[in-house]
Amino acid sequence: MQGNRILLIVAGGIAAYKSLELIRRLRERGAAVRCVLTRAGAEFVTPLALASLSGDKVFSDLFSLTDEAEMGHIRLSREADLVVVAPATADLIAKMAHGLADDLASTALLATDKPVLIAPAMNPEMWQHPATQRNLAQLAADGVRQVGPAPGEMACGETGLGRLAEPDEIVAAIAALLAPVARPLAGVRALVTSGPTVEAIDPVRFIANRSSGKQGHAIAAALAGAGAEVTLVSGPVHEPDPAGVRVVRVESAVAMLAACQAALPVEVAVCAAAVADWRVAEPLTQKLKKRAGGAAPTLALAENPDILKTLARRGPGRPELVIGFAAETEDLEGNARRKLAAKGCDWILANDVSREQATFGGVYNTVKLVRADAELEAWPRLSKAEVAARLVVRIAAHLRAATVAAA
Ligand code: CTP
Repeated sequence: MQGNRILLIVAGGIAAYKSLELIRRLRERGAAVRCVLTRAGAEFVTPLALASLSGDKVFSDLFSLTDEAEMGHIRLSREADLVVVAPATADLIAKMAHGLADDLASTALLATDKPVLIAPAMNPEMWQHPATQRNLAQLAADGVRQVGPAPGEMACGETGLGRLAEPDEIVAAIAALLAPVARPLAGVRALVTSGPTVEAIDPVRFIANRSSGKQGHAIAAALAGAGAEVTLVSGPVHEPDPAGVRVVRVESAVAMLAACQAALPVEVAVCAAAVADWRVAEPLTQKLKKRAGGAAPTLALAENPDILKTLARRGPGRPELVIGFAAETEDLEGNARRKLAAKGCDWILANDVSREQATFGGVYNTVKLVRADAELEAWPRLSKAEVAARLVVRIAAHLRAATVAAA
């Protein structure tokens, strides 16, 4: 981002405080950031905070004589490589969709000839409202890009979709827009498994696990971003579908295996799902009833198919590169190498799931890449999006080397 100029519009919402972190990260990467603060935005962050972090004057008033004399709103919106709205409120999104221009932010957005990225943040009901969804559809049709929102607990106490994307994610979206990446995986087919599996006990109860699907979904998104044709087979998760990816939703391990087999042939398979090792041998068709004084039921379990192993040990039609995960709390490398041999896959990303790492459901992951024919690579603690991006770089290099060797 060295030398790139970003016009950051900060609208009024409790998430506005995250724009401060966003500015810091953009400047660390060498971008110049100039801020426009709306009147409502100024209720949440101060012009002084934005000015200190961006190292530039903050613009807020459309009719300020000095602002207009020094920097007309037209120039302000043009002297940038990208306009980013974070947080983008329902109100500003509505103004953008209708071409209103009654303050500096909306006027700059109407006057700009540069790409625009919005990072929406609002209450889940406001997000779901048909009016907001109509406005977003209009903006998408107008070529406005979007990052987030994320699901989770809101400042207002409600839970749902509407949280501002994390600064890391917004930075990744900005980087992608500023430097459209080469598409090193164009023409490559990829299969990714993600999320937990859910194994039925009876029509209302099930056995599942804490996998959030964040890492698997990030890998699918990164593969698609690099040009691959991606099928994502996912257990039930709260993650939004990654853009440009074919998503197949399943519940059980048996259904996940069937969906994976139906997605073949592929060149790359990445098994990131936390597949239940066992399922209930005979799920009940009627709800299991509690009988007064009766003994607790015993569940007979049957082993689930190992999807990674099945794909890796496939004869004809085996993906060229099969990658698995190993969740470990100790001896990461030893356990990962044993798993590599036992499953017959090519690479394993061994992740440390000891409690203090908060990997499950978290934004970060600490992994080691273990390859049958290469030195171990210990990666620093990275966001799951960055882990995905690094993995995709390695996958592209591997496939390129394999093509050269075959030629
Ligand atoms: N996996 C799979 N199908 C299964 C079980 C696991 O595809 N039925 C895949 C996972 O997606 C992951 C890897 O295998 O890529 C993990 O292997 P697993 O043997 O389950 O290891 P851990 O989860 O690390 O657990 P354990 O150490 O108990 O073996």
